[in-house]
Amino acid sequence: MMHSYLLASMPRHFPDADFEPPLVDGFGRRHSSLRLSVTDRCNIRCFYCMPVDVVFRPRQELLTFEEMERFVRAVVPLGVTKIRLTGGEPLVRHELHKLVAMLLAIEGLEDVALTTNGMLLAQQASDLKQAGLQRINVSLDTLRDEVFRQITRREGLQRVVEGIDAAQLAGFERIRLNAVSIRGLTEAEIVPLARFARERNLELRFIEFMPLDADRHWSPDQLLSGADVRRVLEAQFGQLVPAPRPDPSQPAVDFRFADGRGGIGLINPVSEPFCGDCNRLRLTAEGQLRNCLFSTVEWDARRLLRSGANDAELRRLVRSCVAAKAAAHGIGQPDFHRPERPMYQIGG
Ligand code: 5AD
Ligand code: SF4
Repeated sequence: MMHSYLLASMPRHFPDADFEPPLVDGFGRRHSSLRLSVTDRCNIRCFYCMPVDVVFRPRQELLTFEEMERFVRAVVPLGVTKIRLTGGEPLVRHELHKLVAMLLAIEGLEDVALTTNGMLLAQQASDLKQAGLQRINVSLDTLRDEVFRQITRREGLQRVVEGIDAAQLAGFERIRLNAVSIRGLTEAEIVPLARFARERNLELRFIEFMPLDADRHWSPDQLLSGADVRRVLEAQFGQLVPAPRPDPSQPAVDFRFADGRGGIGLINPVSEPFCGDCNRLRLTAEGQLRNCLFSTVEWDARRLLRSGANDAELRRLVRSCVAAKAAAHGIGQPDFHRPERPMYQIGG
């Protein structure tokens, strides 16, 4: 008879019905994070994402909360521990806090976060907090009405600021602002945004404009790189001090201000791609699985969900999607192809 200490140290050669190997792609990247788009709709029209005359998908094409929960329940055993809800604008989906609570009831899921434009946050912050939502990112590119209007083609800057206030009052900590950087448009926004974030104890991240705008106007000369943003900040606030990187798969390079007040993250997908550490999967609002923002192929999870497939079949689909992930997005290379879908149909 074999001693138990020996058994415990032996590799497992026998099939175990509950054992699921982690989701590792062909380049050794382990996938633990799912970005779940809950709708393609939005209440503003940012030019770097949507066309002015956007046509949204019919509602029956969107996954229901029950379908999303079912999908997440199936993939958590593969090592997916983090979810970020995205859109479109996730808060236009009726009673989003209910989905948050449904997801957080899934054993093994550690973190549910939200990326929002903030327009509806004042009304919903306390419901979201009560449902257990852990973190919020608010998109805010400017503090000037005129520039807000130019970017979003709508009014509403004040509502966004009120939404941030309400989220802080509701008890959300470490609220993060995401600002897209665009050459010729947002240079003058950098310092005011940094002041605003420092005063209110918010984290601030600048994201380089990526070729995901529906109008297909992106061009490399609109790149306002992370390095450019850093120079502007350092001219105003003094040297930025590199901060430790707790999570190697985080897209942002973090800095602290020399005076110790607040921090800045730079997300440089165009000038310094971080694909080598990517751990992210995406599910679009109509249940199409993608392994990259820039992938040109999708895996149809909705069809499985609506045809009575079991969890094993769903997991097989997720594994095929991960297995097919490319090494990098290749922006700037001669053979780069933009994906068919613009940002609002993927979920950022
Ligand atoms: N390039 C960079 N960031 C973008 N976002 C939307 N479209 C783009 C783009 N083309 C940002 C939003 C939001 C997050 C989901 O992605 O501002 O912060
Ligand atoms: Fe991941 Fe694709 Fe983004 Fe690269 S471009 S970090 S592979 S999602």
